Amino acid sequence: MLQEFKRPKYDENLSSSVSEELVKIFEKRRTIRQYSNEKPDREIILNAIRVASLAPSGANAQPWHFAVIENQALKEEIKDKCEKEEFDFYHKNPNQKWIEDLKHLHTHEKKEFLTQAPYLIAIFYSHYSHDQSGEKKTHYYAKESVGLAAGMLLSSLHLCGLNTLTYTPKRMQFLNDLLERPKNERPFMIIACGVAPTDCEVPQISKKTIHEVTNYYQNP
Ligand SMILES: Cc1cc2nc3c(=O)[nH]c(=O)nc-3n(C[C@H](O)[C@H](O)[C@H](O)COP(=O)(O)O)c2cc1C
Repeated sequence: MLQEFKRPKYDENLSSSVSEELVKIFEKRRTIRQYSNEKPDREIILNAIRVASLAPSGANAQPWHFAVIENQALKEEIKDKCEKEEFDFYHKNPNQKWIEDLKHLHTHEKKEFLTQAPYLIAIFYSHYSHDQSGEKKTHYYAKESVGLAAGMLLSSLHLCGLNTLTYTPKRMQFLNDLLERPKNERPFMIIACGVAPTDCEVPQISKKTIHEVTNYYQNP
């Protein structure tokens, strides 16, 4: 069945100024690895997840689940498990080039942000689910879809003035047991979210320019 699409008003001048403003706002987004004890309202987190779950997805399968962790004991457990993984990653990694490539970010096996951040959002995705009649439903392009949802989540949180860290330990299947998620769901990433301390430092990095990342094919 089709329904009418109420298209949003398009105003060239407004769109142009909004687009410029968005560039300025997103130039300020950085991955934050330290958190103050300031705790944003949980409604902001839940609304950001509502935005994320409006993301496009293959065949509209919406193959995502967001586990919001505020519970300190759970965060401690996640930190413990992640730090064990990270010790192996940093000290027993046969791929030393990877470790070398991370040096400029000053990251290490200690993951204090996992307990400092007031919220952890563990994002799961699934390649299939079962509907109410028990029939198996395939989730096409599940990973691409959850990646888009994660991007929309990060953008929403940033627009609300919150800081985030995209965290991806090499193995995080333990999250299924810990957070009691079903077997068909795979952990995708952990987003730490909160407010940076006033004396926060970030790695000095640069971003590619519009010319480096774009090819433009104009009409003659
Ligand atoms: C898919 C993905 C995985 C990432 N995993 C980690 C991670 O495990 N630990 C970490 O400290 N940062 C992680 N990051 C953050 C990146 O290091 C960071 O985005 C990058 O250095 C650019 O910095 P910026 O986000 O401040 O622009 C990850 C980012 C992405 C997109």
